[in-house]
Amino acid sequence: MSEQPHAVGARLRESGPAHKIVAPDGSAAWLVTRYEDVAPLLADPRLSLSKQHAKPDGGYRGFELPPALDANLLNMDPPQHTRLRRLASPAFGAGHVARMRPALEKAAHRLADDLAAAGEVDLVADYAAPFSVLVISELLGVPEESRHRFRAWTTGLLGAGATREGMREIVGEMLRFFTGLIADKRTAPGTDVLSALVAARDADDDRLTEDELTSLAFLLLFAGFENSANLMASCLHAVLTDPELRRSVRPPGDAASSPDATAALVEEVARHESPALLAIRRFPVEDIDVGGVVIPAGETVLLSLASANRDPRRFTAPDAVDPVRPDLARHLSFGQSVHYCIGAPLARLEARIAVGVFLDRFPNALLDPGSPPRWQPSPRVRGLASLPALVDG
Ligand code: HEM
Repeated sequence: MSEQPHAVGARLRESGPAHKIVAPDGSAAWLVTRYEDVAPLLADPRLSLSKQHAKPDGGYRGFELPPALDANLLNMDPPQHTRLRRLASPAFGAGHVARMRPALEKAAHRLADDLAAAGEVDLVADYAAPFSVLVISELLGVPEESRHRFRAWTTGLLGAGATREGMREIVGEMLRFFTGLIADKRTAPGTDVLSALVAARDADDDRLTEDELTSLAFLLLFAGFENSANLMASCLHAVLTDPELRRSVRPPGDAASSPDATAALVEEVARHESPALLAIRRFPVEDIDVGGVVIPAGETVLLSLASANRDPRRFTAPDAVDPVRPDLARHLSFGQSVHYCIGAPLARLEARIAVGVFLDRFPNALLDPGSPPRWQPSPRVRGLASLPALVDG
């Protein structure tokens, strides 16, 4: 499985610019795979993220979220999107993110203590996933005792075995949870992002509605948790499978990992193993021409970030992990334009901390020779299901 999504992407990229496929939810969709098409289409206002533009008989099904979870940034276009993004943006700015650094470093070291004590570990279940839950919980100000529920929810909704019935149940639970959490932040605000969002107003004294707040909290959990955990685990996989790469990040004899080399590694792995294989589904508001293929208005369009990131017409030797390539940051893993990932600075910070702390604490860590890494069989996300390793205390 490990190279399968990339092999499929390569085949489709070669054979045509847009392909009619069956989407992960079972409905019909168009898959666009070339960088030269995906990059401009991510920014093209003729592609709407609003379900209002889906053809009634187009087959699109989606998650069927209740309005209190559906009023989110990834379901709307400007100008509604612009208003919501303006209200949410300050909470994700450089200041807020930088302030989280000490807490995140401490958390990574605490997890590393547990790894050291165990010796034989799974770097997904024992490090990347709990670290990612912790970051989102810090961000939203989720109390300690509720944190374990996050992972179960995301796997229940995004995992390969998710059923519609199961999803509906989880969505109900999450809605109750977030409604309660937001009520708590109103009465006892903290320094977390959710408290900042509850208090946010813009220049016109506009505020987020209750539905917008619950939807945003829900989106942050989803957009934030799984992609970040997958990026961290893919970075660890890269350094543990390639000794030269590892030496470039933490030169032997140096006291600590190089911050610049770690940052470059994270950026390159984000391109190489794009955690979100696909952008959010989009609906053309008019017929559009993609490299000579006409996609009718209202049909579902899936832009393949993973395939665009491995397009040899854009990146030299795209299947290699090369953190010194000159066009490092030109990948599309965080999207482009108005929907560019609001959490990208945080995602980069947490991955850099996760890799840096791991290599500093365990310079001799090895992949477990008796238990090979496994990739998730998901059509939406790219990430390891397990990464067994041996670490020395
Ligand atoms: C490695 C980790 C991450 C990856 C790969 C990722 C990827 C993406 C992508 C591709 C988009 C654009 C989707 C599109 O245009 O179709 C996006 C949007 C978004 N992401 Fe992330 N994301 C990551 C981490 C995070 C984190 C940590 C947060 C917040 C806690 C976050 C919050 C969001 C939000 C709110 C949007 C919607 C922005 C908008 O529509 O204006 N993401 N992300």
